[in-house]
Amino acid sequence: MGRITGEFAIEAMDLENAGNVSSFIKKTLIQEGIAKPIVKRVSIAIYEAEINVVIHSYGGVCKYEIDDEKIFVRFQDTGPGITDIEQALQPGFSTANNQAIYYGFGAGMGLMNIKNASDEFHISSSPKGTTLDITIYSK
Ligand SMILES: Nc1ncnc2c1ncn2[C@@H]1O[C@H](COP(=O)(O)OP(=O)(O)OP(=O)(O)O)[C@@H](O)[C@H]1O
Ligand SMILES: [Mg+2]
Repeated sequence: MGRITGEFAIEAMDLENAGNVSSFIKKTLIQEGIAKPIVKRVSIAIYEAEINVVIHSYGGVCKYEIDDEKIFVRFQDTGPGITDIEQALQPGFSTANNQAIYYGFGAGMGLMNIKNASDEFHISSSPKGTTLDITIYSK
């Protein structure tokens, strides 16, 4: 298949378009013939990560790279960051605002689900922004 890369901008609180990035990448993986269980794990992880950028951050970018061995996706936003990453990873912890809750988000399960769906999961954060790297092996 070679190497497929792409990049998307994600706007803060743009709930209308939330999920578009993960839908696009999912379609691409299916077109490339990636096995269904792998597509499912990638879809879960990147959907949750995309929503987090929409509802918790000031906006950011998503970059992805698909090659013969793996799917790598980086979400990078511009703040306000996560004060306590360990706490944020706990099931049930959420700072989602009322609008996000109205749309059905804010159970506090996203980060844990991303971690569980990923083969490699790296998160780093400061008030200047959060970077989340997700790698899922396709073989
Ligand atoms: N990109 C981000 N920027 C700032 N804070 C974040 C970011 N992603 C997650 N967080 C913080 O981590 C918390 C936990 O995130 P997680 O995805 O697990 O739950 P949630 O988004 O609140 O709810 P759910 O994902 O179940 O809809 C969030 O409530 C928020 O405080
Ligand atoms: Mg979430």
